[in-house]
Amino acid sequence: MHPVQIRGPRLALREFTAADTDTDALQGIFGDPETVLHLPFGTRDRATCEQLVAGYLKDAATTPRTAYALAVERRDTGEVVGTAYLWTSGEHAGVIGYALHRGSWGRGLGSETVHLLCALGFRGLGRHRLTADREPLNEASGRVLEKAGFTVEGYARENVLVDGEWHDSVRHALLEYEWQPPEGITLAEA
Ligand SMILES: CC(C)(COP(=O)(O)OP(=O)(O)OC[C@H]1O[C@@H](n2cnc3c(N)ncnc32)[C@H](O)[C@@H]1OP(=O)(O)O)[C@@H](O)C(=O)NCCC(=O)NCCS
Repeated sequence: MHPVQIRGPRLALREFTAADTDTDALQGIFGDPETVLHLPFGTRDRATCEQLVAGYLKDAATTPRTAYALAVERRDTGEVVGTAYLWTSGEHAGVIGYALHRGSWGRGLGSETVHLLCALGFRGLGRHRLTADREPLNEASGRVLEKAGFTVEGYARENVLVDGEWHDSVRHALLEYEWQPPEGITLAEA
Protein backbone atom coordinates (compact mmCIF):
# COMPACT_ATOMS: atom_id res chain seq x y z
CA MET A 1 0.00 0.00 0.00
CA HIS A 2 1.59 3.27 -1.16
CA PRO A 3 1.20 6.14 -0.67
CA VAL A 4 -0.60 5.98 2.67
CA GLN A 5 -2.84 8.87 3.67
CA ILE A 6 -4.90 8.47 6.83
CA ARG A 7 -6.71 11.33 8.53
CA GLY A 8 -8.03 11.66 12.04
CA PRO A 9 -9.68 14.59 13.79
CA ARG A 10 -6.41 16.43 14.47
CA LEU A 11 -3.66 14.40 12.85
CA ALA A 12 -2.82 12.71 9.58
CA LEU A 13 -0.36 9.94 8.76
CA ARG A 14 1.47 10.41 5.50
CA GLU A 15 4.57 9.11 3.77
CA PHE A 16 7.91 10.69 4.58
CA THR A 17 9.49 12.74 1.80
CA ALA A 18 13.09 13.61 1.00
CA ALA A 19 12.42 17.25 1.94
CA ASP A 20 14.79 18.71 4.54
CA THR A 21 11.81 19.70 6.67
CA ASP A 22 10.86 16.03 7.19
CA THR A 23 14.40 15.11 8.24
CA ASP A 24 14.53 18.15 10.55
CA ALA A 25 11.26 17.08 12.15
CA LEU A 26 12.51 13.52 12.66
CA GLN A 27 15.68 14.84 14.26
CA GLY A 28 13.61 17.12 16.49
CA ILE A 29 11.98 13.95 17.82
CA PHE A 30 14.88 11.47 17.96
CA GLY A 31 17.45 14.10 18.93
CA ASP A 32 15.76 14.64 22.29
CA PRO A 33 17.12 12.54 25.20
CA GLU A 34 13.79 12.48 27.05
CA THR A 35 11.92 11.23 23.99
CA VAL A 36 14.30 8.32 23.39
CA LEU A 37 14.63 7.51 27.11
CA HIS A 38 12.57 4.31 26.79
CA LEU A 39 13.45 3.52 23.18
CA PRO A 40 16.09 0.90 22.30
CA PHE A 41 18.56 3.49 20.93
CA GLY A 42 20.18 6.75 21.97
CA THR A 43 19.65 10.22 20.53
CA ARG A 44 20.07 10.45 16.77
CA ASP A 45 21.95 13.18 14.93
CA ARG A 46 20.95 14.81 11.65
CA ALA A 47 23.09 12.54 9.46
CA THR A 48 21.54 9.44 11.05
CA CYS A 49 18.05 10.87 10.55
CA GLU A 50 18.86 11.54 6.90
CA GLN A 51 19.85 7.87 6.53
CA LEU A 52 16.69 6.79 8.33
CA VAL A 53 14.48 8.80 5.97
CA ALA A 54 16.34 7.34 2.96
CA GLY A 55 15.59 3.86 4.36
CA TYR A 56 11.92 4.77 4.90
CA LEU A 57 11.63 5.87 1.24
CA LYS A 58 13.24 2.63 0.10
CA ASP A 59 10.93 0.53 2.29
CA ALA A 60 7.92 2.42 0.93
CA ALA A 61 8.87 1.52 -2.63
CA THR A 62 9.47 -2.18 -1.88
CA THR A 63 6.97 -4.78 -3.09
CA PRO A 64 5.51 -6.43 -1.13
CA ARG A 65 5.73 -3.65 1.39
CA THR A 66 6.33 -4.84 4.94
CA ALA A 67 7.50 -1.64 6.65
CA TYR A 68 5.48 1.56 7.03
CA ALA A 69 7.35 4.52 8.53
CA LEU A 70 5.03 7.49 8.41
CA ALA A 71 5.12 11.15 9.35
CA VAL A 72 2.50 12.26 11.88
CA GLU A 73 1.27 15.65 10.74
CA ARG A 74 -0.97 18.20 12.43
CA ARG A 75 -3.87 18.79 10.09
CA ASP A 76 -4.29 22.45 11.00
CA THR A 77 -0.68 23.55 10.51
CA GLY A 78 0.91 20.76 8.46
CA GLU A 79 3.67 20.53 11.08
CA VAL A 80 5.25 17.08 11.51
CA VAL A 81 4.88 16.33 15.22
CA GLY A 82 5.67 12.64 15.26
CA THR A 83 6.59 9.44 13.56
CA ALA A 84 4.54 6.23 13.40
CA TYR A 85 5.53 2.72 12.36
CA LEU A 86 3.83 -0.48 11.34
CA TRP A 87 5.74 -3.60 10.36
CA THR A 88 3.75 -6.49 8.97
CA SER A 89 4.39 -9.79 10.72
CA GLY A 90 3.52 -12.93 8.78
CA GLU A 91 0.18 -13.06 6.97
CA HIS A 92 -2.12 -11.69 9.63
CA ALA A 93 -0.31 -9.60 12.24
CA GLY A 94 1.47 -6.29 12.57
CA VAL A 95 3.74 -4.54 15.05
CA ILE A 96 3.35 -0.83 15.75
CA GLY A 97 5.59 1.88 17.18
CA TYR A 98 5.36 5.66 17.54
CA ALA A 99 7.08 8.71 18.96
CA LEU A 100 5.88 12.30 19.21
CA HIS A 101 7.84 15.51 19.57
CA ARG A 102 8.05 16.33 23.28
CA GLY A 103 6.29 19.66 22.74
CA SER A 104 3.17 17.77 21.65
CA TRP A 105 2.82 15.34 24.55
CA GLY A 106 -0.12 15.33 26.94
CA ARG A 107 -2.85 16.47 24.55
CA GLY A 108 -4.25 13.16 23.38
CA LEU A 109 -2.18 13.11 20.17
CA GLY A 110 -0.41 9.87 21.13
CA SER A 111 -3.78 8.18 21.47
CA GLU A 112 -4.92 9.51 18.11
CA THR A 113 -1.68 8.28 16.53
CA VAL A 114 -2.29 4.76 17.85
CA HIS A 115 -5.84 4.82 16.43
CA LEU A 116 -4.50 5.97 13.05
CA LEU A 117 -2.05 3.05 13.11
CA CYS A 118 -4.96 0.74 13.93
CA ALA A 119 -6.83 2.12 10.90
CA LEU A 120 -3.80 1.34 8.74
CA GLY A 121 -3.35 -2.14 10.20
CA PHE A 122 -6.93 -3.32 10.43
CA ARG A 123 -8.65 -1.44 7.61
CA GLY A 124 -5.82 -0.73 5.21
CA LEU A 125 -3.79 -3.91 5.52
CA GLY A 126 -6.46 -6.35 6.73
CA ARG A 127 -4.44 -7.39 9.77
CA HIS A 128 -6.17 -9.49 12.42
CA ARG A 129 -3.86 -8.62 15.27
CA LEU A 130 -1.60 -5.72 16.18
CA THR A 131 1.04 -5.74 18.90
CA ALA A 132 3.20 -3.12 20.56
CA ASP A 133 6.12 -3.70 22.90
CA ARG A 134 7.17 -1.10 25.43
CA GLU A 135 9.73 -0.71 28.15
CA PRO A 136 8.13 -1.47 31.54
CA LEU A 137 8.97 2.05 32.80
CA ASN A 138 7.32 3.69 29.79
CA GLU A 139 4.00 4.28 31.50
CA ALA A 140 2.80 6.98 29.11
CA SER A 141 3.05 4.50 26.24
CA GLY A 142 1.28 1.83 28.29
CA ARG A 143 -1.54 4.25 29.05
CA VAL A 144 -1.89 5.28 25.39
CA LEU A 145 -2.19 1.62 24.37
CA GLU A 146 -4.64 0.89 27.17
CA LYS A 147 -6.81 3.86 26.14
CA ALA A 148 -6.86 2.54 22.55
CA GLY A 149 -8.12 -0.84 23.80
CA PHE A 150 -4.92 -2.88 23.77
CA THR A 151 -4.58 -5.68 26.35
CA VAL A 152 -1.39 -6.60 28.15
CA GLU A 153 -0.50 -10.14 27.11
CA GLY A 154 2.62 -10.45 29.22
CA TYR A 155 6.30 -9.72 29.60
CA ALA A 156 8.95 -10.68 27.13
CA ARG A 157 11.97 -11.20 29.36
CA GLU A 158 15.32 -9.72 28.32
CA ASN A 159 13.86 -8.88 24.94
CA VAL A 160 15.93 -5.84 24.00
CA LEU A 161 19.68 -5.22 24.33
CA VAL A 162 20.52 -1.56 24.99
CA ASP A 163 24.13 -0.54 25.62
CA GLY A 164 25.03 -4.07 26.68
CA GLU A 165 22.09 -4.34 29.10
CA TRP A 166 19.05 -6.54 28.63
CA HIS A 167 15.62 -4.96 29.05
CA ASP A 168 12.25 -6.66 29.44
CA SER A 169 9.29 -5.59 27.29
CA VAL A 170 5.61 -5.42 28.12
CA ARG A 171 3.64 -6.82 25.19
CA HIS A 172 0.26 -5.24 24.35
CA ALA A 173 -2.10 -6.56 21.67
CA LEU A 174 -5.38 -5.62 20.02
CA LEU A 175 -7.54 -7.81 17.78
CA GLU A 176 -9.40 -6.45 14.78
CA TYR A 177 -12.86 -6.99 16.29
CA GLU A 178 -11.85 -5.39 19.59
CA TRP A 179 -10.89 -2.07 18.03
CA GLN A 180 -13.39 0.72 18.59
CA PRO A 181 -12.43 3.44 16.13
CA PRO A 182 -13.17 6.98 17.24
CA GLU A 183 -15.27 9.18 14.95
CA GLY A 184 -13.57 10.95 12.09
CA ILE A 185 -10.92 8.54 10.83
CA THR A 186 -10.67 8.26 7.06
CA LEU A 187 -8.22 6.21 5.09
CA ALA A 188 -7.39 6.85 1.49
CA GLU A 189 -4.64 6.05 -0.89
CA ALA A 190 -3.67 9.56 -2.01
C1 LIG B 1 4.12 7.73 24.48
C2 LIG B 1 3.72 9.03 23.80
C3 LIG B 1 3.49 8.78 22.30
C4 LIG B 1 2.40 9.51 24.42
O1 LIG B 1 1.98 10.66 23.71
P1 LIG B 1 0.90 11.69 24.32
O2 LIG B 1 0.46 12.56 23.21
O3 LIG B 1 1.43 12.33 25.55
O4 LIG B 1 -0.27 10.69 24.70
P2 LIG B 1 -1.75 11.05 25.21
O5 LIG B 1 -1.82 12.49 25.58
O6 LIG B 1 -2.69 10.53 24.21
O7 LIG B 1 -1.89 10.14 26.51
C5 LIG B 1 -0.85 10.03 27.45
C6 LIG B 1 -1.41 9.32 28.69
O8 LIG B 1 -0.32 8.86 29.48
C7 LIG B 1 -0.43 9.42 30.77
N1 LIG B 1 0.93 9.60 31.26
C8 LIG B 1 1.87 10.46 30.80
N2 LIG B 1 3.00 10.30 31.51
C9 LIG B 1 2.77 9.31 32.40
C10 LIG B 1 3.57 8.69 33.40
N3 LIG B 1 4.84 9.06 33.63
N4 LIG B 1 3.01 7.71 34.15
C11 LIG B 1 1.73 7.33 33.94
N5 LIG B 1 0.93 7.88 32.99
C12 LIG B 1 1.45 8.86 32.25
C13 LIG B 1 -1.19 10.72 30.57
O9 LIG B 1 -1.78 11.17 31.79
C14 LIG B 1 -2.22 10.26 29.56
O10 LIG B 1 -3.25 9.49 30.14
P3 LIG B 1 -4.70 10.12 30.45
O11 LIG B 1 -5.26 10.57 29.14
O12 LIG B 1 -5.44 9.00 31.08
O13 LIG B 1 -4.46 11.28 31.39
C15 LIG B 1 4.79 10.14 24.00
O14 LIG B 1 5.01 10.28 25.37
C16 LIG B 1 6.12 9.83 23.32
O15 LIG B 1 6.30 10.11 22.13
N6 LIG B 1 7.08 9.26 24.10
C17 LIG B 1 8.42 9.03 23.58
C18 LIG B 1 8.49 7.90 22.57
C19 LIG B 1 7.88 6.63 23.12
O16 LIG B 1 8.09 6.29 24.28
N7 LIG B 1 7.18 5.89 22.23
C20 LIG B 1 6.54 4.65 22.58
C21 LIG B 1 7.49 3.53 22.50
S1 LIG B 1 6.73 2.00 23.04
